[in-house]
Amino acid sequence: MTPTSYDPLYGPLSALIGTWTGDHGLDVAPEPDGSEESPYYETIVFEGIGDAENAEDQVLGVVRYLQIVRRKSNDEVFHDQTGYWMWDARAKTVMQSLTIPRGVCVLAGGQHSGEVDPRSPTTLRVRATLGDETFGIIQSPYMLENAKTVAFEHELIVGPDSLRYSETTHLSIYGRDFDHTDANELRRA
Ligand code: HEM
Repeated sequence: MTPTSYDPLYGPLSALIGTWTGDHGLDVAPEPDGSEESPYYETIVFEGIGDAENAEDQVLGVVRYLQIVRRKSNDEVFHDQTGYWMWDARAKTVMQSLTIPRGVCVLAGGQHSGEVDPRSPTTLRVRATLGDETFGIIQSPYMLENAKTVAFEHELIVGPDSLRYSETTHLSIYGRDFDHTDANELRRA
């Protein structure tokens, strides 16, 4: 239960580092004739893995994560996601890259607000849009044709012992637009 200390390399991502668990999750997912709501619980492990230098110029602080989500009704894993959060101290920007085993990858970018100090809450907000050359979405031919991700928005509020997030994956599926949403509140394990 010890909050991670502030590290300038990771900036506002410092507070993420550690293992988090939460059982107040709610997923709203598309169904052919409507939607399905699934309460869930999950574990997210964030690990600081050092820096990455690009073009001998840009320096990123990198936090790798693994998110495992289980449906409360049957304890089965129904979402498995991995990726990186990156902090560019010079540009004061955050990025999240994620991949899910449906054939979808996202690179989302944005800002943080609040204190860059793990003792106070920090808000991270990132977004990606299909077709954007920088913060965009890559998906398989099948997904593009049948279950297209058109945008992704993620807000995460992290304090010393609590982590709250809400995210919306804007889909085009079953002949209509659908806001696939997920939210949870976690504590340090
Ligand atoms: C806690 C996080 C998440 C959970 C629990 C979750 C869960 C689900 C569930 C239950 C479905 C319906 C699957 C079915 O109909 O059999 C679904 C569909 C989908 N999800 Fe997620 N999801 C999460 C996050 C994401 C994220 C971050 C993305 C992409 C950025 C994503 C992309 C999709 C897509 C493209 C589909 C449509 C596939 C389909 O329904 O056939 N999801 N998700």
